[in-house]
Amino acid sequence: MLAGFASQLGLPTGLRGRAVGAMLNRSNRGTIAIAIRELEIPSGAVAADLGFGGGVGLEMLLERVGHQGQVHGVDLSPTMVSRASRRFGRDVASSRLHLHTGSITQLPLDDASIQAAITINTIYFIADLNRAFSELARILTPSGRVVVGIGDPEAMARMPTTPYGFKLRPVAEITAAAESAGLALRDDKRSGQGDAAAHLLVFEHAS
Ligand SMILES: C[S@@+](CC[C@H](N)C(=O)[O-])C[C@H]1O[C@@H](n2cnc3c(N)ncnc32)[C@H](O)[C@@H]1O
Repeated sequence: MLAGFASQLGLPTGLRGRAVGAMLNRSNRGTIAIAIRELEIPSGAVAADLGFGGGVGLEMLLERVGHQGQVHGVDLSPTMVSRASRRFGRDVASSRLHLHTGSITQLPLDDASIQAAITINTIYFIADLNRAFSELARILTPSGRVVVGIGDPEAMARMPTTPYGFKLRPVAEITAAAESAGLALRDDKRSGQGDAAAHLLVFEHAS
C-alpha cells in the first residue's frame, strides 16, 4: 500500500491519481503560497509551475500575474494535465494558461521565456538533478527567479513513504547542482514549524 501511494505521489495516475492531486492541494497550499510570495512576481509576468500536481500553484500564479500575465504548467503526469485542463478550461481557452505534459529535465519551454517559476516537492523524483537545473537556468530570463521546494531531508527520512522511490538530497547538494548550472542561492525560506519545516530554496542567475 505504501509503495502504491508513494508511486502516486511521484506520478499521480488515473482515478487514484486525481484523488492524490486533491489531497496534495490541501496539504501543500500554505507552502506553495509562501513560495509564490518569494518569487516577487510583477503583475503581467510569465510564470510557471513545474510539476504542478493538483494545480493549486497554477491557481495562485494565475491570480498573481493578473489578466495581462501568462502561466505555464508542466507535469509528467497526463492525469494531472487532463485534470488541470478541465479545472482551468477558461484560462486555457483564453491563452492565459498553457499546459504541457513533459519533464523538468526536458522542459517544453523557450529559452529565457519565464520570469518566475516554482517546482515544489518534485525533485525527489528526478534522478538527474544537474539536467533539471540546467533546464531551469535555460528557461529563466536573466533576472528571473525559481523557488525549489523540498521537505526537510531529515524529517522526510522518517516518513514511511520515503523508501519507496523518493531520492532525498541535503540542501547543500541541491545548491551545488544549481550552482553548476549557473544559478545562485538567494534565500532558504522555511515553511512550517521547527526542524521539520520545508525548505523553499530561492535561486536566481549568478551575477
Ligand atoms: C508530490 S507531487 C507535488 C505536486 C505539487 N507541486 C505540490 O507540491 O502539491 C509531484 C508532482 O511532480 C510531477 N513530476 C514528477 N516527476 C516530474 C518530472 N520529471 N517533470 C515534471 N513533473 C514531474 C508528478 O507527476 C506530480 O504531479
